[in-house]
Amino acid sequence: SAAEKGGYEHFMIKEIMEQPKALTDTIKPRIQDGEVVLDDITLTKDQLEKVDKILIVACGSAYHTGIVAKYVIEGLTRKPVEVDLASEFRYRDPILTEHTLVVIISQSGETADTLAALRYAKQQGARTLAIVNVVGSSIAKESDDVIYTWAGPEIAVATTKAYSCQLAVLYLLGVYVGRQLGKISDEENLGMIRELLALPEKVATVLEKKEDIQYFASRHYADKDVFFLGRNLDYAVCMEGSLKLKEISYIHSEAYAAGELKHGTISLIEEGTLVVAVATQDRLFDKTMSNVKEVKARGAEVLGLTTEHNTRINETTDFQFYIPETLDIFLPSLAIVPLQLFGYYMASMKGCDIDKPRNLAKSVTVE
Ligand code: G6P
Repeated sequence: SAAEKGGYEHFMIKEIMEQPKALTDTIKPRIQDGEVVLDDITLTKDQLEKVDKILIVACGSAYHTGIVAKYVIEGLTRKPVEVDLASEFRYRDPILTEHTLVVIISQSGETADTLAALRYAKQQGARTLAIVNVVGSSIAKESDDVIYTWAGPEIAVATTKAYSCQLAVLYLLGVYVGRQLGKISDEENLGMIRELLALPEKVATVLEKKEDIQYFASRHYADKDVFFLGRNLDYAVCMEGSLKLKEISYIHSEAYAAGELKHGTISLIEEGTLVVAVATQDRLFDKTMSNVKEVKARGAEVLGLTTEHNTRINETTDFQFYIPETLDIFLPSLAIVPLQLFGYYMASMKGCDIDKPRNLAKSVTVE
């Protein structure tokens, strides 16, 4: 009913708008006296020191947070991190020992492939840690350790606030482990804590500009194809942005690593093809812009997504959307928001059944 949706037309937009609160609930209680505190987990410093590999396993959007986390956690802890789709994990004979930390990510805590992956990892003697939204779910119960995302109930099939809270927990985990291992200085820690606490407010700032995205969608909802380009963390964000768009609007879209485009998909770019270029990381900005020029030369119309100070993106793109600045590793939390809104408004203008897209289920309990 309208009341359940808090006055919004769909659960999805309600949940998008709830992100600042969900992030606050997930992050704030875990920061005490300027340090990340994860009293929910029992892993000791000694056990963390002995971890020789971190393996992240999940499905769908949760898998996409794992791709962000691979870059971030490897950087913060200097431990090797791998990411697997839960439906693939067991079939590649992964190397698992008691020193492998398997991180399982799931909103529902009931996804069949993810639960099977957890059981497999345990059976092989690995240490397991789950990041779950639904309290008391099967994955939460069976994992050695659980860190809850406090996103609250998520109704829309297309995840938004749970995705954002999963990212937040992965950041907290990275900072926590990095700190335990002595890989993060006091000064770096201070900067990260400050930015983690500022994330909810920065997400709120992005949400205030939702009409800009709505307007942009009004010009493109009849498009047949959309391409998302980005490097590194921006590429991981592109994967989720592309999934959001295609799962609810039924518009074909692809996420491409910006430098890989010329090895294939650039042949699909025609006059007027929409390309969303995500270039939030300063150190990669010029590289991604050179790929933008390649698609522009083939007639693409480009929406550029970057941070507030990179206004020179208007030299290479047709439309621009700016997000606030933060540390590079936290940019995905801000960059994903306009892409969620983009998927939502495109689907809304097409009149799609946004909260229940055809053929999809919120929780998939078959393998
Ligand atoms: C389903 C949903 C996706 C979700 C995936 C994993 O396919 O439609 O939105 O990302 O399952 O769900 P989980 O509950 O394990 O995060």
